[in-house]
Amino acid sequence: MANVAVIGAQWGDEGKGKVVDWLASRADVVVRFQGGHNAGHTLVVGNQTYKLSLLPSGVVRGKLGVIGNGVVLDPEHLLLEIAKLKEQGLSVTPENLRIAENVPLILPLHPALDKAREAARGANKIGTTGRGIGPAYEDKVARRAIRLSDLAEPEVLSRKLDELLLHHNTLLKGLGAPTFEKQALLDRLLELAPKLLPFAEAVWERLDAAHHEGKRVLFEGAQAVMLDVDHGTYPYVTSSNTVAGNAAAGAGIGPNRIGYVLGIAKAYTTRVGSGPFPTELHDETGRLLGERGREFGTVTGRPRRCGWFDAAMVRQAVKVGGVDGLVLTKLDVLDGLETLKLCTGYRIGSEVVKRLPASIAQQEAAEPVYEEMAGWKESTKGARSYAELPAEAVKYIRRIEELVEAPVVLLSTSPERDDTIVLRDPFAG
Ligand code: IMP
Repeated sequence: MANVAVIGAQWGDEGKGKVVDWLASRADVVVRFQGGHNAGHTLVVGNQTYKLSLLPSGVVRGKLGVIGNGVVLDPEHLLLEIAKLKEQGLSVTPENLRIAENVPLILPLHPALDKAREAARGANKIGTTGRGIGPAYEDKVARRAIRLSDLAEPEVLSRKLDELLLHHNTLLKGLGAPTFEKQALLDRLLELAPKLLPFAEAVWERLDAAHHEGKRVLFEGAQAVMLDVDHGTYPYVTSSNTVAGNAAAGAGIGPNRIGYVLGIAKAYTTRVGSGPFPTELHDETGRLLGERGREFGTVTGRPRRCGWFDAAMVRQAVKVGGVDGLVLTKLDVLDGLETLKLCTGYRIGSEVVKRLPASIAQQEAAEPVYEEMAGWKESTKGARSYAELPAEAVKYIRRIEELVEAPVVLLSTSPERDDTIVLRDPFAG
């Protein structure tokens, strides 16, 4: 049975939530494998809107949700999100959510360090979500993270907290930020332990069993390829690998079980936070895209920067992300624009290149090379077949396919789950 991995092909906020929700209805298990509550997925189901940051979207559809070891988990936030869903009539219990016992935890000192460091960076700030994601991943690779399973062993926890605080309080003091006291942290973690431990297990074993039972697994990526810590616009990136390959390490499965990789891209480009953005528009068109697309961050509420579709960048994301097929979202936001522009490469000094170089200075200097296309007057909102699309819209999509070297297999034409044009079933492999 084919599995599917969904990843963002730009800088995040491509509308993964809706696509994952659509696919989740056809999957048995939905797995988060990286990131944390820096992600924001909005799911519109009938007249209910669910905002998820940490929970796998499948829980809204009655599917088993799994949080893999590649995630960084803020226990307080998890319980808050579960409580909010309960108010909306959805129950999240160990029956429908399992969490990797080896997942590293985000503690209050992580957002404190995240924010103190951003403040110290001043104008050079990364524009993080301030949720402690970077510091939590740093602790994981530095081998001092508190993991979920540690909550069952108070003595180990106490010892590990000493090491963690030695590191963090030194840094926080140096940055002039308040430090943390061990006993309060320990007491709170031990208080949380009975609420969290019932969710903990070796999820790799469950996923292995799911495979042998022929179940369909959906790997739900967060952020996007251009925010990948290796392949993105470093250092203006998140602190995890967002490419599909990380679904294997981040969930505890073999790479051959990831299945079909679906990349999600908006029909234009947006970005939140700082960093290079060659096709960014500072004019009326940019403002219009932001307004029509309701481009405000789900997590932080920050307005998103908007620009033309960058086909050179998405091509790069397709290659490094292992994307088999693309989903194009928010095409309707372009309705009525007379001319559209597609970025096919970048002029850097006297050279024209087809990819973003690793050098941040060169990324910032990159001038987009555009190709112009005629827009369309008709509305594409809610279209459910190619036949309902204006000829110019179809041409725009076809040109994107050529430039990014991947087929568009799904089109999302409104926030409603059923307003989707399916050209190929990703679960068919
Ligand atoms: P962090 O992940 O909070 O460390 O933030 C690092 C960068 O990733 C910042 O530019 C954030 O705005 C961006 N980022 C993190 N999560 C998301 C997301 O879900 N959508 C879009 N951008 C994100």
